Amino acid sequence: MTDVTAAPARAEERAGAGGDRGAVAYRVWAPDGLPEVAAGDDLAALIALAVPDLADGDVLLVTSKIVSKAEGRVLAAADREDAIDAETVRVVARRGTLRIVENRQGLVMAAAGVDASNTPAGTVLLLPEDPDASARRIRAGLREALGVDVGVVVTDTSGRPWRSGLTDVAIGAAGVRVLDDLRGGTDAYGNPLSATVVATADELAAAGDLVKGKAAGRPVAVVRGLPHVVAGDGEPGARALVRGAADDMFRLGTSEAVREAVTLRRTVREFTDAPVDPGAVRRAVAAAVTAPAPHHTTPWRFVLLESAGARLRLLDAMREAWIADLRRDGKSEESVARRVRRGDVLRNAPYLAVPCLVMDGAHHYGDPRRDAAEREMFVVAAGAGVQNFLVALAGERLGSAWVSSTMFCRDVVREVLGLPGDWDPMGAVAIGHPASAPKERPARAAETFIAVR
Ligand SMILES: Cc1cc2nc3c(=O)[nH]c(=O)nc-3n(C[C@H](O)[C@H](O)[C@H](O)COP(=O)(O)O)c2cc1C
Repeated sequence: MTDVTAAPARAEERAGAGGDRGAVAYRVWAPDGLPEVAAGDDLAALIALAVPDLADGDVLLVTSKIVSKAEGRVLAAADREDAIDAETVRVVARRGTLRIVENRQGLVMAAAGVDASNTPAGTVLLLPEDPDASARRIRAGLREALGVDVGVVVTDTSGRPWRSGLTDVAIGAAGVRVLDDLRGGTDAYGNPLSATVVATADELAAAGDLVKGKAAGRPVAVVRGLPHVVAGDGEPGARALVRGAADDMFRLGTSEAVREAVTLRRTVREFTDAPVDPGAVRRAVAAAVTAPAPHHTTPWRFVLLESAGARLRLLDAMREAWIADLRRDGKSEESVARRVRRGDVLRNAPYLAVPCLVMDGAHHYGDPRRDAAEREMFVVAAGAGVQNFLVALAGERLGSAWVSSTMFCRDVVREVLGLPGDWDPMGAVAIGHPASAPKERPARAAETFIAVR
């Protein structure tokens, strides 16, 4: 038997903080005597035999592996990758063959929690189908076998972002206050606690791991002395410990987030009235000017139209220029009116930016072929800068539409906005909070766009 008695200082602090929590010390031990578990075994009955002195208010920490074995969640190892696929709901991060995924239990884990350790060679273990239900069954079985009211936590070993090393966490629970919400209370100095929700079930799981060990053949631990964490059958299970995607500021791994940021950018043509944060636009400009450009130049300028007057003056002047172009083309007045109405995307946006190209540092060859190529290099670099800008705006949750109009009346734009003669407007970007999500677009297969030589 491995035995640890702990007198955590924090328990005392918490007793002061959140009222009398009833414990300044607890004992945790890992009993011997549990046989190798096989499919169909009654786990509660086996535990009752190994730990007959369980008492009301104890918390039993049960390694998920023996739960999986009892529940027959064993597969031939040849199926491991298929098993991971089947258990995966969402890929969070991938590096080489290592996959961190959200699994069907809502847990974010390496390889979906499909495990090849502590199981016979050639087999892998899946996590229990519903670990909270497993915990409830063990709790009910122990009540029946021993007449005791104990909390049960099903544990699994997990890595964590930002921290080296593995620790046990709660993946299933019954009769345990899995979260201890101290918000609304005060600390020992009287400061209000506004964010403190303690993951009690995870702390219990980690305490149990200190005595169970990984290879010692002791898959169960008992915590005694913390009866306040044990509660009735109505407590939510360990599922309550899973942070929902909407509240998760770190929903994706780095490379997945980069890829998603690119695909998140879509043309948004309708915006709410909510104002645009000028700071967010400046952050996007800072990202824009990191784009690749020829000869170590920085050919980007951004004119930010932050006043309604400046936007209106520009749009009215551009409309006049456009109407003049259309009349010169011989279009009817009705056709002119119809086309001009389509320009409303800029008029309806709460914020406009006009990206401009400057050719400072361009080479002059004196022959048309190379001078045209030089100009194109700068134009594509301008496009790369605008794309960076739009992607960064999408990262700020701002929608954008890059439209061409200013390119067709550059003199007018320069005059109205008072820009230097060598600033070439490269369209305009309407910016705002999207009125609705863009329409889904089928993924485009890379192969369609590739020629391999
Ligand atoms: C140089 C350029 C000019 C564009 N001009 C217009 C335009 O005048 N009006 C418009 O509604 N969209 C314009 N767009 C946006 C495209 O229509 C849009 O990118 C395309 O429909 C693909 O949709 P997505 O941006 O959501 O991927 C322009 C895009 C580029 C790159």
